[in-house]
Parts: sequence; structure tokens; C-alpha cells
Amino acid sequence: MDIKDKVVLVTGASSGIGKATAELFIRKGAKVVLAARSLEEVKELAVKMPNTLAVAVDMTKPQEIQQMVQETQAFYGRIDVLINNAGQELNTSMETIDVENFARLITSDVYGPLVAMQTTIPLMKQQGGGAIVNISSGVFQTARSTLLQAESAKSVLNMISLNTRTEYIDQGVSVSLVYPREPEANFQKPPKRREVTHTKRQTDVHKLDSPEAIAAKIVETIEKGIAVEFL
Ligand SMILES: NC(=O)c1ccc[n+]([C@@H]2O[C@H](COP(=O)([O-])OP(=O)(O)OC[C@H]3O[C@@H](n4cnc5c(N)ncnc54)[C@H](OP(=O)(O)O)[C@@H]3O)[C@@H](O)[C@H]2O)c1
Repeated sequence: MDIKDKVVLVTGASSGIGKATAELFIRKGAKVVLAARSLEEVKELAVKMPNTLAVAVDMTKPQEIQQMVQETQAFYGRIDVLINNAGQELNTSMETIDVENFARLITSDVYGPLVAMQTTIPLMKQQGGGAIVNISSGVFQTARSTLLQAESAKSVLNMISLNTRTEYIDQGVSVSLVYPREPEANFQKPPKRREVTHTKRQTDVHKLDSPEAIAAKIVETIEKGIAVEFL
């Protein structure tokens, strides 16, 4: 997909990967909707970036997600790209998991993107196509002692995304996954010997990526229609 003049909705756009992704889409000539819970922060960013709209959303609340999509549609008349980036870290050891916190994480990081896709896909089909990128995590490939809840949620998101891709690819809607490794600010120690991986990419997972490098991969995923992009 050619990014120029496309309407791109980025969740979690107030910081980190989402902010870097929004900035790159703007530089590529897109019109960008910056969504996050902190409306003031995305409004401040929108003032500095041309062709943007700031929208408040809490991804744990389906009504707010639907409202975010409706606001985008009302303002720009279409949605070409949805970047489901908003997410949070919640990682403790097994015995200290707070089930209510874990349920909240599943609600924001799995049901949130799911509702955003459910609301956006009919619009994309109507307008003749679109692209969705769900931000997963490269860390999910390694079973580490304290990377349990966020990475488990990403594993569910992975399967939802791949199945949704299969369901809609022939209808012009491309659903993709990007698996960032840990951004620089969140660097953690290399894996210990007892840690188990289920892919051969174990060593790569612990290299550092800047939010800008991850943003570049997200944009490349859209431009080339890639299904799954590891960093
Ligand atoms: N950090 C890592 O090590 C890492 C590694 C691999 C993958 N990832 C994934 O990459 C994505 C972005 O991570 P990041 O490192 O850029 O995180 P970040 O800097 O903490 O940014 C998270 C963004 O999500 C928003 N957000 C959080 N909860 C939200 C909610 N319930 N509703 C709406 N917006 C919400 C935050 O804004 P508000 O607080 O204003 O809502 C913020 O804009 C996440 O999905 C994360 O799981 C991260």
C-alpha cells in the first residue's frame, strides 16, 4: 500500500513505539489519528504534527473504541490503516499473579484490538480494502520466569490476528503482526540457561531496537503487505 494521503489510526500514540510510528506515517504523507487515554498528551503532539487528529480512548472500554473509530470516520471519511499498538507490561512470577490485573491486561491488549478490528473491518471492506497491524512482542518466543502475563496475552493476540488475516485477505483487508524486541528503554538482561524457547530466534530476541526502528518495520509491513514481521 502507498502510504501517501492514507488515513492511519494509531492506538497508544502518546509515547514509545506508537508515537514514533505516528511521526513516521506523517513524514510519509499520511493523515494520522493519535489515540491514547491521555487526551492532553496526544493533543500536544497533534499541535506539533500536521494532518493529525487527537482522540481519547481507553482500550479496555469497547464503547470508547467504537467511538474512536467513528470519530476517525467522521473526520476523515475513511480508515485505511489501523495500528493496534496500545499495550502495557505486566509481568510477575507465577505465584504473585493478581488475576484481576491479568484480566484487565487481557481486556486492553487482546479484547481491545479485537473490538477495534471488528469495528474497522466493515468500513475497510465498504471502501474497498485496508490494512491492520497488531503489535505483538518478540519476547513471547522465550519462556522467561517473569515475562508471563503480557507475553501470554500477546500469544492470544497472535492467533486472533493470523486467523483474521486468513478470513479477510481475499476481501482486501490485510491483517499483519509485528514482533518488536525490547525497545532500548526497556532493556533486560540476556536469557538465563534455564529459559526455554520455542523458536531458533532466541539470541536475536535480546537485541535492542529503538522505537524508530520498530516504527520503520511497521510502515514497511504496510507498504509491502507482509504478514508477519520479526525485528
Ligand atoms: N516495551 C517493550 O519492551 C515491548 C516489547 C515488545 C512489544 N511491546 C509492545 O509494543 C507496544 C507499545 O509499547 P511501548 O514500549 O511503546 O509502550 P509505552 O511507551 O508504554 O506506550 C504505551 C502506549 O499505550 C497507551 N496505552 C496503554 N494502555 C492503554 C489503554 N488501556 N488504552 C489506550 N491506550 C493505552 C499509552 O498511553 P496512555 O497511558 O495515555 O493511554 C501509550 O501511548 C505495546 O503493545 C507493547 O506490548 C513492547
